[in-house]
Amino acid sequence: MSGFSSSLEPVSTPGLSAPAQCPYLVAMRHYHQYDELIRNNARWAVEKLRKDPKYFETLSEYQKPPFFYIGCSDSRVPIDTYTQTEPGELFIHRNIANQVSLTDMNLLSAVEFAIETLQVRHIVVCGHYECGGVIGAYRNDLRGLKENWTTPIKDIIRDHKAELDTIPDEHDRLDRLTELNVLNQVKNIFKISDLERLIEANGYYPKVHGWVLDIRLGLIKDLQLPLDAWKAEGVVPENYKE
Ligand code: CO
Repeated sequence: MSGFSSSLEPVSTPGLSAPAQCPYLVAMRHYHQYDELIRNNARWAVEKLRKDPKYFETLSEYQKPPFFYIGCSDSRVPIDTYTQTEPGELFIHRNIANQVSLTDMNLLSAVEFAIETLQVRHIVVCGHYECGGVIGAYRNDLRGLKENWTTPIKDIIRDHKAELDTIPDEHDRLDRLTELNVLNQVKNIFKISDLERLIEANGYYPKVHGWVLDIRLGLIKDLQLPLDAWKAEGVVPENYKE
């Protein structure tokens, strides 16, 4: 499986040498110095105030984000940047390989808060191509807690073996596995009892979406959800509408 760099590892660029003291500087990318982060923040805050003197006063009053976003922890996928959204628009939960685990108290409490208190209008589960968690689960080369965490992806590989086996190119196969991972996590969202009850009550409920961020193009791919199949399985209530 050459040609893949796990996003959980430092990126190395052949031909570039780096100061020995820091392996992360091997990358071709520019990394800020620590002090720059604080200076950049101060400059950004001043700029915001220049455009709107009440920006932070208004921002600090309350939050009512329309979107709940569940994504991968990968440093290359800050969704605010890709969607050009502002503070206050996205309620966010991130973990390795954007897993929706029904025993994860962290995720479940965030979902509960997003649904009951914030009453978000949309829930988005977003994966990304070149995901180290997905690739590592496929290669079976993650160890320790990461290996346990990504076990559900190995289940997806087994469940979809027939489809994945028809894809000759490994890169394409991993892209498809990334999409299947997102679809599986979206399906898990529908299994959360809070949401299930809201949909069954047929009043207000948030719409659920599955995205893959193509970090090779910088573009979001909005996946088609197999809602009819999930309704037939009984996972999605019949009256759910996109
Ligand atoms: Co990832």
